Amino acid sequence: MNFIPLHDAKIYNEKNESMATFEWLTMPHILITNLEKKIVVVEQQHDKIHLIDFGSGSSLLSVELFRRRKEMIQKVTNIDYNDAAMKIACSNLDESMLTYLNKGIIQFHQVNLAIEFSKTEYDVLFDNNHHQDDNNTILPVMILDKSTLDCFLATPNVERDGKNASHLAYLDAATMLFNVYHVFEKSNNNNNTTKNNYCKYICCSYHEPSFLKSILSILFHVESIETIPRSDDKSVSHVNINHTMVSSDPNFVYLYTCSFSNNNNNKSIEEIRKEIEYNVNYYYKHTCTYSSTINLDKVKKEWQNDYNNVNDDDYNKLKINVVYDLMIDENLKSMYSLKDFIDDWLANHNKNEKNADDKNDDRNENDIRFTYEEALDFIKSIE
Ligand SMILES: C[S@@+](CC[C@H](N)C(=O)[O-])C[C@H]1O[C@@H](n2cnc3c(N)ncnc32)[C@H](O)[C@@H]1O
Repeated sequence: MNFIPLHDAKIYNEKNESMATFEWLTMPHILITNLEKKIVVVEQQHDKIHLIDFGSGSSLLSVELFRRRKEMIQKVTNIDYNDAAMKIACSNLDESMLTYLNKGIIQFHQVNLAIEFSKTEYDVLFDNNHHQDDNNTILPVMILDKSTLDCFLATPNVERDGKNASHLAYLDAATMLFNVYHVFEKSNNNNNTTKNNYCKYICCSYHEPSFLKSILSILFHVESIETIPRSDDKSVSHVNINHTMVSSDPNFVYLYTCSFSNNNNNKSIEEIRKEIEYNVNYYYKHTCTYSSTINLDKVKKEWQNDYNNVNDDDYNKLKINVVYDLMIDENLKSMYSLKDFIDDWLANHNKNEKNADDKNDDRNENDIRFTYEEALDFIKSIE
């Protein structure tokens, strides 16, 4: 592990204007205002928290929080494996924060989150100078994660040493969550459950709850999920939490507040990895499907109108080309033609055992008709 030498702080402070801080997920001041509310001071007045940013990169999020809530934060640790990114962060520290850097109250350490923490990492995080309060009690930690878990969930594993690369899906995400959990545990070496309640893992993510909540719940108790607008623009900042939210919505991100849970039975990294894999597969099979995005009320109304217009004898059935127009949205149409839709129907039809010999089914598209329920079942069967 490389420590950024504190005496180099001034060098980093020579601002390079082209190196802006990496604050892209939401506008920083909106996120910071929400995070400030999360810093909970423990019962004794002199108790403070230790703020740790997992995957801080070039961001100064933790430092900005410290600037605003110094009375509640005893130590700020930024960890990332990208030394260059953290140097950019250091270069953006102003004079007042450099003082805290030089005192070791604000720290930056190069740490690989995709490797199980060893004594070295824990020593860095829990060094006695700054991690205990006046009564020698270990402070509760607040772990910040702005898009780092998102990054692990979206990318393949980092090659470890060139020879022993592991390509198991979600292994790095599992290792990172394992490390978060064990930092919680270490900050509770007195087995003081009250204190443990103050340890928080705050995950700022682009992923919707139906995806991420089950993953975080593998190890943590998910206390709350909030939506944070990405900008101040009033025309986009209004979020209707009742509508079905999709992770591709550009207007907001989610803030998950997680706390310690005793129910994880000391899960190993491989057990966590398997559970993540299961949850992700389940999500893609059951939640994130094309049919789940169809506005069923609207389609049902339009179905009835179309049916009334054609005044067909075939009770409430519509022809396949009308169904295609009604149920396949414009985006999908650009990639999936009516011919594809009909071919899929024929393939499905021929696959059916009783139609197995009916290979030369050359029925006219006018003959293929669906009730509303049949159309929905068909779309579900092909997606
Ligand atoms: C999407 S960026 C977020 C950076 C920062 N939290 C922000 O919001 O500006 C993800 C960060 O995770 C860091 N990261 C990725 N893999 C890592 C690993 N194995 N160990 C430590 N940090 C890692 C990257 O270097 C990067 O800084």
